[in-house]
Amino acid sequence: MRAMAVRCLITAGPTREFFDPVRFLSNPSSGRMGYALAAAARDAGWTVDLVSGPVSLPEPSGVMLYPVVTAEEMMRQADALFGPCDVLLMCAAVSDWRPASRHASKLKKDGRGLTVELEPVPDILAALSARRRPGQVLVGFAAETEDVEANAVAKLAKKGVDLVAANSVAGPDGAFGSEDNAVLLVGRDGFRRRLGPASKSEVARLLVAEVALRLPSR
Ligand code: CTP
Repeated sequence: MRAMAVRCLITAGPTREFFDPVRFLSNPSSGRMGYALAAAARDAGWTVDLVSGPVSLPEPSGVMLYPVVTAEEMMRQADALFGPCDVLLMCAAVSDWRPASRHASKLKKDGRGLTVELEPVPDILAALSARRRPGQVLVGFAAETEDVEANAVAKLAKKGVDLVAANSVAGPDGAFGSEDNAVLLVGRDGFRRRLGPASKSEVARLLVAEVALRLPSR
């Protein structure tokens, strides 16, 4: 009997949180790392679902692409695809806050300042890991400006994941938007491995190989 392909769910890119029809809160994530992971997972023979925030990257061939805009939409789409997946790579730079309300029409300037109240966005990864099945491998991503290793290790337990891939985003060489990347991969069992510096596709290939080692034999 032929083994079933590994099912991999990947989230990528930023989310946008609007406070009127034309203005939003977001972050500089380009989506490149998530798209590189999608290509690497596909090349490993996996079946890939890619839930992507707004990016200007070509649609990767051989993967199912689910475009979303807000964290709420990303949450719903990821939630719908999570059950049958074997691997979750939660690479998206989800906005941590969103405007508490959204004006139906464009806000007009009146020469004065504007205060926008923000509320926290649900933690998608924590919600998914709370209902994980045995055998699933979950990977979180961390963008850190300092204490990269300690913060990455703390995130393992906080998010209930097997691996955290941490990027340093401090300074002008930070990972956001750049072609290259260096990741510190940490695991629950004390595992530590540096991937890169290398192109995002090479880092993605190494990361997919590490995840493959943790899948139950099938
Ligand atoms: N994440 C998520 N839902 C959110 C925020 C983040 O699923 N609302 C995921 C990201 O996709 C990533 C991981 O959680 O995989 C990052 O964790 P997070 O706590 O957001 O990291 P930081 O933003 O670095 O956290 P902190 O501000 O606490 O350092």
